[in-house]
Amino acid sequence: MPATVLVGTQWGDEGKGKLTDLLAKEMQVVVRYQGGHNAGHTVVVDGETFALQLLPSGVLYPYTVPVIGNGVVVEPKFLIDEMDTLERRGIDCSRLVISGSAHLVMPYHQEMDALIERYLGKNRLGTTKRGIGPAYADKAARIGLRVQDLLDPKIFRQKLDVVLKEKNLILAKIYNRLALSGAEIAGRYLDEYAPRLAPHIGDAVGLVHDTLAAGGGVLLEGAQATFLDLDHGTYPFVTSSNPVAGGACTGAGIGPRYIDRVIGVAKAYVTRVGAGPFPTEVFGELADTLVERGHEFGTNTGRRRRPGWFDAVMMRHAVRLNSIDELAITKLDVLDSFETVKVCVAYEAEGKRYENMPWHQSVLYDVTPVYEELPGWETETTGVAGKDRLPTAARDYIDFLASQAGVPITFVGVGPGREQVVRLGER
Ligand code: GDP
Ligand code: IMO
Ligand code: MG
Repeated sequence: MPATVLVGTQWGDEGKGKLTDLLAKEMQVVVRYQGGHNAGHTVVVDGETFALQLLPSGVLYPYTVPVIGNGVVVEPKFLIDEMDTLERRGIDCSRLVISGSAHLVMPYHQEMDALIERYLGKNRLGTTKRGIGPAYADKAARIGLRVQDLLDPKIFRQKLDVVLKEKNLILAKIYNRLALSGAEIAGRYLDEYAPRLAPHIGDAVGLVHDTLAAGGGVLLEGAQATFLDLDHGTYPFVTSSNPVAGGACTGAGIGPRYIDRVIGVAKAYVTRVGAGPFPTEVFGELADTLVERGHEFGTNTGRRRRPGWFDAVMMRHAVRLNSIDELAITKLDVLDSFETVKVCVAYEAEGKRYENMPWHQSVLYDVTPVYEELPGWETETTGVAGKDRLPTAARDYIDFLASQAGVPITFVGVGPGREQVVRLGER
């Protein structure tokens, strides 16, 4: 069975956790391929909420093997706490495999993330302050420490000594902060975290390939989303990894030929946390209604999310960037009470119409969205199970999104629960 990629198509929080959980039921292995504990993926099972940050959302099934791929950056203390919390709630995390090639988030990464944001002032990105950007920067600069270094104290200390000299100079001379102690960091990472994580550190690439060779299902779970992608997102208001489907290849160690299904996840509207352009953003009473009905507060940082109408220009671009075969639309129920709903089908700027994403980002700040207004369904959809039971206007809305995106919609979320999903045509 070839691999499936699940990717966010907007600015994150589309409901990837819920969809991953749903699909993981039929998978042997679920891999997180990028990002770190900046993610917050919610799964609701029998009314119980699990907010997963570093662990793949497949962890809730007792038979799937959750994998943290090489493309992820791992804050070990956070991971241990996440595993402990889940274990206390009866979720077995013993099968977890962490790629030895994943990079470690170090204390100086978290400190620098917060400092850089503070110094950027009104130009700040609004990061999660988890140290994600600085950790990926060190990876690219080839001064990162990796998960496998936890198993080799000599190498770990050597690398830390070298890197900490530079980091402490930056912290002291530029930011006027106290120097960090290498002995203290090494003590925690090697004596406390390493013994706890050691049984899980291993050959993630080998596991994925052996599973594929044996015909097992592999699901690659993206964090963040297409428009937060370091290369394709609204730079610099992006994260520092590649959430796009291509990132699943590098972040899990498989070639593109192994992937035969790419599922894009989108909300029935759009939200964004943090700064950056957002053509269909809405304000005032409408924004408050969307935020209230959708409980649009960050899973991770608790920040209020910025809401807006569904943007088909973005979606068409996401379909291209990820080779999306099918879309899962979540949170349709949030629009249940609206008299009419809007979809942005194109942008206009300086007399020019854009059906596709303008290549120059400056345009995005000035565009006026061209909206199609559709009738609302003004009916509760949360209890809808079969496809025929979606109200006609809701079904028309979904069909309109599919025609705009150019790909079929196969899942429609009508509530946060695992079972609150309408499947439109099995693959
Ligand atoms: P992720 O980061 O993409 O996994 O998404 P988050 O978990 O951060 O945010 C999605 C939020 O919407 C969570 O609170 C989910 O429980 C919730 N959710 C997911 N699907 C639906 C849906 O179809 N309807 C409603 N009302 N909530 C949903
Ligand atoms: P999930 O996986 C929504 C945003 C931050 C900020 C920018 C950079 O739950 O969809 P970072 O800490 O990554 O350097 O922050 O990216 N961001 C997210 N927004 N959902 C996420 O994850 C996000 N992860 C990062 O708000 O704007
Ligand atoms: Mg989230």
